[in-house]
Amino acid sequence: QVPKQITNEAVKPFGAKDTKDWDLLRASLVKFRSSSLEVPLVINGERIYYNDGAKRSFFSQTNPAHHEQVLANVTQATKEDVISAIQSAKDAKQRWMSLPFYDRAAVFLKAADLLSTKYRYDMLAATMLGQGKNVYQAEIDCITELSDFFRFNVKYASDLYSQQPIESSPGVWNNAEYRPLEGFTYAVTPFNFTAIAGNLIGAPALMGNTVVWKPSQTAALSNYLLLTVLEEAGLPNGVVNFVPGNAVEITEEVLKDKDFAALHFTGSTNVFKQLYGKIQQGVVNNLYRDYPRIVGETGGKNFHLVHHSANIPHAVLSTIRGAFEYQGQKCSAASRLYIPSSKSEEFLSNLAGTLQQQHIVPVNTSASPLNGGDLHGFMGPVIHEQSFNKLANAIEEAKKDPELEILCGGQYDKSKGWYVAPTVIKTSNPTHKFMSTEFFGPILTVYEYPDSKYSNICHTIDTTSGYGLTGAVFAKDREAILEAYEKLRYSAGNFYINDKCTGAVVGQQWFGGGRMSGTNDKSGSGNILNRFVTIRNTKENF
Ligand code: ALA
Repeated sequence: QVPKQITNEAVKPFGAKDTKDWDLLRASLVKFRSSSLEVPLVINGERIYYNDGAKRSFFSQTNPAHHEQVLANVTQATKEDVISAIQSAKDAKQRWMSLPFYDRAAVFLKAADLLSTKYRYDMLAATMLGQGKNVYQAEIDCITELSDFFRFNVKYASDLYSQQPIESSPGVWNNAEYRPLEGFTYAVTPFNFTAIAGNLIGAPALMGNTVVWKPSQTAALSNYLLLTVLEEAGLPNGVVNFVPGNAVEITEEVLKDKDFAALHFTGSTNVFKQLYGKIQQGVVNNLYRDYPRIVGETGGKNFHLVHHSANIPHAVLSTIRGAFEYQGQKCSAASRLYIPSSKSEEFLSNLAGTLQQQHIVPVNTSASPLNGGDLHGFMGPVIHEQSFNKLANAIEEAKKDPELEILCGGQYDKSKGWYVAPTVIKTSNPTHKFMSTEFFGPILTVYEYPDSKYSNICHTIDTTSGYGLTGAVFAKDREAILEAYEKLRYSAGNFYINDKCTGAVVGQQWFGGGRMSGTNDKSGSGNILNRFVTIRNTKENF
């Protein structure tokens, strides 16, 4: 039975460090740090390792805080492996979709319980070490958000199935049957949230679909662990087939198949656009049986807009958290800030002062949250060398640009891990490319506007970036709030009033945005589940 009351999983506070929780977490961290694990492909439940035979290669997932440390050797799928993963998904489909909904739901409810109990510390450690998170960021990802997705999806699916057409007249039976899509789903999942990966496979699977899963190379460890938790919870073989490897090659194989029914994607805007185009081309060329569903969530250039009536200390702290938690690597992270001239000095000196007081891990020191030092460190490393280089180049560019001035940060160091200091850059040009380009890291660009131009700045925010993911307004003045609410209608799919623009909670803030940020199908709500069913309506006369 679906539980009557579903509530959000509580975040474990991990306060004083001499508790049993810390002991358990430390033990898991030591375990993953001291041995590099072998991560296989999983096709129809079968584990396939690169060293089983000569034909497969592997890649190493390293600790971004300590890039010499190999956490996992991950087998890369070959073209033949992808073909067998697709076949396995097709073969498992009939049995899985024919199970009563409650049997499918039971798998996800059990997995949620296992994540928040037996596997809590291992999941945290795998996500912290592999994806560069501190314990709080890992908690709100791979424990609370992930188990919330699993539990709330069950509730939303149950509500959806109960929606039926009206009985038009006596002697007539009308019925809606929520069929899974005909074919298989391809899930392409990101590094930054283990929870998102879980939802990208979990939402379609709950609705009776089977999945080919390409995880991010930099999240393979936690993602594999998640699959084993689902298996322990009763997920049958073949329902989710795990194929890490070269994204381009895997995708090419998948998009050739006539039974490709849906893409469930989170990642970069550029990659999503390419996939979108390829799938449409496939439709035009009669490659597929159906119009594949395309569900994607990509990037953002998310804003914080501060009005002169705002509570400035609150707006500052919210901006620090929105821009720099998890090193700014949330698709929802704030990366452009608009402050009124009359409050500029107060805001910026408070921002610089507060940033210094936070326990932000200094660049590359032993206090790194992932090196056995202060696990409460506010920030850790960025995910990999490519990201580090992109951010370092942006900082160097800012140093030379007369329209930009670095107010705080600007340092980076890769001698041990991929560290970039939280960096605040001021621009004199509200449409500068630093106000429209997503860097996906700890760089925040700020523009100071004359107080009297609040209306104009709303327009500037709306038109400067092509994204529409998240945004926030900080004000006490109700009219200012309402003006932003009206004028920024399409600038953010998640709009926050007097709160940071990150940290959507499943069931409470349905997550996703439009424009170039994605298809806005709202994870954490029932809407997304609709995308993975195709309804048959039946009428019977008696
Ligand atoms: N759902 C995540 C957030 O809102 C990305 O921050």
